[in-house]
Amino acid sequence: MILEGRFLAPPLEEPTRLTLCIRDGRVAGVSRGSSPSADVRLPDEWLVLPGIIDIHVHLRGLRLSYKEDELSGTLAAAAGGVTLVADMPNTQPRLDNTESIGLKLSALRRNSVVDYVVYAGVPRTPGEAERIASSGLVAGFKVYPEDLVEQGALEEVLYAAWRRNLLVVLHSEHPDMVKEGCKPGRRWECRPTTAEIEALRLISSVAPRGLRLHVTHASTPNLVLEAKSRGFTVDVTPHHILLDSRDEEKHGCIAKVNPPLRPPEQRERLIQLLISGDVDAVATDHAPHTVEEKMGSFDECPPGIPGVEHYTRLLLTLVSKGVMDLRDFIKLTSTGPARVLGIHGYGCVEPGCIASYTAVDLRREGRISGYETFSKAKLTPYEGMLYRGEPVATIVRGRLVYREGCVCIKPGWGLNAARLASRRGGRPPA
Ligand code: DOR
Ligand code: ZN
Repeated sequence: MILEGRFLAPPLEEPTRLTLCIRDGRVAGVSRGSSPSADVRLPDEWLVLPGIIDIHVHLRGLRLSYKEDELSGTLAAAAGGVTLVADMPNTQPRLDNTESIGLKLSALRRNSVVDYVVYAGVPRTPGEAERIASSGLVAGFKVYPEDLVEQGALEEVLYAAWRRNLLVVLHSEHPDMVKEGCKPGRRWECRPTTAEIEALRLISSVAPRGLRLHVTHASTPNLVLEAKSRGFTVDVTPHHILLDSRDEEKHGCIAKVNPPLRPPEQRERLIQLLISGDVDAVATDHAPHTVEEKMGSFDECPPGIPGVEHYTRLLLTLVSKGVMDLRDFIKLTSTGPARVLGIHGYGCVEPGCIASYTAVDLRREGRISGYETFSKAKLTPYEGMLYRGEPVATIVRGRLVYREGCVCIKPGWGLNAARLASRRGGRPPA
């Protein structure tokens, strides 16, 4: 396939009109300027960026398909300009054994319209972590707060991941230091930042040296800095940089999330870290729940904010306001996430690069609307928010999967990208 557009992707420094010849999902040839034989020609007002990667989404599926499933969640991703998602294991059944991981991957193979990787949960059965790690099916493991107090199971996962050079993603909140019962606007008091720091200290004390540890949804500047000082990678969410405790007070359950929204001054410092180079990626923690669930009482309703479909619009709006530039945007949404996952040559424009791209129109404006989404989760704390900058086309390994409101691919185009993530030959047994 021959793709022509105005690109801004590594190694380019300036937007440049290019024609790419793409074969087997990779760039086979590059020439400057237009070509009469292009199969897809993207207009000059659009800018083609390296494919956006969201390293933290909950596609749900299996018995939680009423909240979201592998088709609705990846349609939402494609419509949000996201070319690759990393899916979380807190499903029903949990993805903590090779059997349920097999079921999940088969649902993704049949339904996903974008590329994906899956993280496994921490197994409670001895030997299972090693079976999962050696299967080659997953990109890594996800450690939840409750896993931190199961020392034997936790250590097994950390060593199994270390031996295969897999990623360990940490939800950093110590379970003994958080409680429920705080009023809307004050949940940050029930889940203090000290709980975030303590969880990171705990895992650091048992992690083997050289483990690829990634701290996800860091909600406070202190946690970002603590993670970086220990040599780990870290992501922040759009909601922790755009919303704060006042939004939780206003929207109640729709803005209830773990870790919680923080006071405004924390949010402002977090934004500064975003552009100072301390943050490796932005990740949405797209956490869909039904309208009925989110209309329940604040104490009982499930935490989680959907975001994968709004992600690009929200961040491009920060670009339009001058909070960050396009270079920061590309780093935080594509090259940084690819580095965290260990995927090389993603979305660049040289022979051999993986030909996944996100085309954006930086001048298009609109308002965020939860009901006009592919996701099943219709309630959003961003409802009505003005945005400037919109994803207009999503290209996954050379195939146009989405263009201006329309999905143009059959379910099942997405591939498991775990095999692209670097193993560097693994490590010898400890
Ligand atoms: O708010 C959250 N929702 N935080 C999590 O850690 C889990 C997520 C979910 O799965 O809904
Ligand atoms: Zn999550």
